[in-house]
Amino acid sequence: MRIIAPSLLAADFGNLHSELRAIADTRAEWLHIDVMDGVFVPNISFGFPVFSAVKKASDLFMDVHLMIVNPQKYAARFVEAGADMVTFHLEAVDNPRECIDAIRRAGARVGISIKPKTPAAALAGILPEVDMVLIMSVEPGFGGQAFMPEAIDKVCKVREMVRGAGLDTMIEVDGGISSANAGALFAAGADVLVAGSSVFRAADYREAINEMLEAQ
Ligand code: DX5
Ligand code: ZN
Repeated sequence: MRIIAPSLLAADFGNLHSELRAIADTRAEWLHIDVMDGVFVPNISFGFPVFSAVKKASDLFMDVHLMIVNPQKYAARFVEAGADMVTFHLEAVDNPRECIDAIRRAGARVGISIKPKTPAAALAGILPEVDMVLIMSVEPGFGGQAFMPEAIDKVCKVREMVRGAGLDTMIEVDGGISSANAGALFAAGADVLVAGSSVFRAADYREAINEMLEAQ
């Protein structure tokens, strides 16, 4: 499976409607929504009003990435606002099951994310309970950072864990992704690649996405 999820964070917020129309005209199947609270990460992005407006203007699968503390408090509201997948950070919770239950009860798919310094092994107990693992290939908080190549090895490790457990958990990678690393990430076992700058800074969004989908 090869899916590209353009990250809204890199879009022109003064022209969201035309940005979303341009993305609708590409092979992107998901839209990645970065929610930051200024506590879990040193940056603040946007919340419910913006997400609700985006949901109305796009038919893409809404992939919400919560970079917030206490995600269990807000996850269901993102589902009500139109999230198809809600991903929270393992590092942000004491009890991941509470947040998993909140997302499932609200009716969305569940993703769990790990920052670059969190080892793949930290996912061991929780893997059977989630639909997707999101591996960060930059420190979360900002778009436009350089890709950390160690992420490729982490994708291989998680893919092996998923295979070994007989699961069909999806693997998503986020941060610094472009056609320069997309091929290696898909080959390592990634299903979904998030791409902010490499899409929204490109002259032709469609071509930028095709290049990642077809990267070797
Ligand atoms: C970073 C966010 C990413 C970001 C990716 O904290 O989680 O989704 O938007 O942006 P690029 O592709 O520019 O690294
Ligand atoms: Zn993200």
